[in-house]
Amino acid sequence: MTTSPNARPLMRAAISMLCLLLSACGGGSATQEVPARTSGTASAASTGDPAEKAAAPFVLVSANASGSHGTYSRAGFIDSANPFFKPIGNGRSCASCHDARDGWSLTPASVQARYLASNGADPLFLPLDGATSPQADVSSDEARRLAYRLLLEKGLIRIGMKVPAAADFELAGVDDPYRFAGDKELSLFRRPLPSTNLSFQSTVMWDGRETHLAPDSAQCMLNAARCYAGPAVDLALQANNAALGHAQAGAELSAADQAAIVAFESGLFTAQVFDAGARNLAGIGGRGGPLALAGVAYYFGINDLVDGDYRTRAPFTDKVMSLYSGWALANPPVDADVAPEDAARVAGARLAIARGQALFNQREMSIGGVKGLPGTLVRGSCATCHSAPEAGSHSVPLLLDIGVSDGARRTADLPLYTLKNKTTGEVLETTDPGAALASGRWSDIGKFKVPILRALAARPPYFHNGSAKDLREVVDFYNQRFQMHLSPQEIADLTAFLKAL
Ligand code: HEC
Ligand code: HEC
Repeated sequence: MTTSPNARPLMRAAISMLCLLLSACGGGSATQEVPARTSGTASAASTGDPAEKAAAPFVLVSANASGSHGTYSRAGFIDSANPFFKPIGNGRSCASCHDARDGWSLTPASVQARYLASNGADPLFLPLDGATSPQADVSSDEARRLAYRLLLEKGLIRIGMKVPAAADFELAGVDDPYRFAGDKELSLFRRPLPSTNLSFQSTVMWDGRETHLAPDSAQCMLNAARCYAGPAVDLALQANNAALGHAQAGAELSAADQAAIVAFESGLFTAQVFDAGARNLAGIGGRGGPLALAGVAYYFGINDLVDGDYRTRAPFTDKVMSLYSGWALANPPVDADVAPEDAARVAGARLAIARGQALFNQREMSIGGVKGLPGTLVRGSCATCHSAPEAGSHSVPLLLDIGVSDGARRTADLPLYTLKNKTTGEVLETTDPGAALASGRWSDIGKFKVPILRALAARPPYFHNGSAKDLREVVDFYNQRFQMHLSPQEIADLTAFLKAL
């Protein structure tokens, strides 16, 4: 057991699922409580030199369904005194919905645990945006369970937004099972995006609404007149709006608190560190885990689909993911601590991850007609959109309609909206108009940002509305919608790769 010299006391709650050493985290079985000063490091490849061990950076590790994930902070420790963790307004803090144990998002399992532990009194459970409607009946336990069912079952938060008056479309019909949504506001049920790995971010919020233009900025699209303020500005505005909205703060966050929150969240890196099958993901040949991720280069336009690399002018590359290239061998290496009788199985799991990585980068699919992509593009791979190296975001703002909120995919637990084009009279149905509610443009209906793909295993379910309950369902979605023709083996490999991110 190593104790990191710079590890400050952490919130006890944030470490209740901390695994001590990664080798003890197999299969998500280790959920032991450990002293607050104990570091859960050991993901960096080590020479075994005691001096090196003592200096190993602090990584906060939590178990998840396929192993465990870890967070590293550039600050050297997770500062529980940061205003990110301070309850404001209605008793919530940012951490109420962005929990390290859930990859800085929120999972149904932890929502349910909080509901049980507090009998529904935890400030997460507020009609404002935790319930299916702000007017939901929360007078009895039975009523509360119904009111908070989308939060309990899918970890969804209600975002209220209305169709802008100047929009080129109008709301022509509402089918809200919770009888609240209408002209005043649409109820949009969305997953909290992770407040980590933000240094790989070009677009803030699912619909990009906190991605701000700034004419005098240096972050400009190569072939368009648009320049963006960048994450520091976006995230400060976002934090303030989250405090006023989700946390009902009585006043704006001070500039100092905004800056402290942005510095804190921007310094976080989270990734899967241990996989039940492939074991230590930063072990020999692997570059998984948050420490390797913190060393990954990223800048605005590092690998843009249209213009390639803005700085080097290299053309776009689909070799986006390479962290497991060292396992793309007939017989991938395994670490010395793996028992000889397990070695073949671990090597097999590593090879499956490497095959999944190759599928991610290069397996072709039919993406013609995706709104937001250049019209000429008809074939592509996962890497076409998830193109920021090793992170899977897109390095310039890009909002796309891949069909997740299509009316045809509506499930009975979500409201359905009918929208009408004011000029053409055309109508369409959607569960969430996405970017169109910010821009007011018909052509933006159903568009969402390309999210970061690290620490996925930490935070099911997936997509903005939690419609894919696990990563296998994500792969099934793409396989069907974009005609990937994946074999059962390929589905398993791609899923294994996503779990190891
Ligand atoms: C009640 C739950 C809740 C609380 C409290 C909350 N958030 Fe969020 N957060 C969300 C949801 C839901 C989204 C996604 C909403 C969307 O895109 O429309 C989000 C999005 C974000 C994002 C965007 C990340 C990205 O990739 O674009 C950041 C950053 C963030 N929150 C930080 C914060 C901070 C800082 C606070 C505290 C001031 C906070 N949040 C409080 C639920 C919450
Ligand atoms: C045409 C662009 C495009 C392609 C191709 C694409 N994605 Fe996505 N991906 C997106 C967008 C946009 C979203 C957000 C959609 C939403 O939630 O409505 C997304 C969401 C996801 C998510 C959910 C992340 C989260 O935090 O919930 C995963 C996982 C994912 N994609 C993996 C993949 C994989 C694997 C492939 C290849 C099989 C792939 N994507 C291909 C654009 C794309």
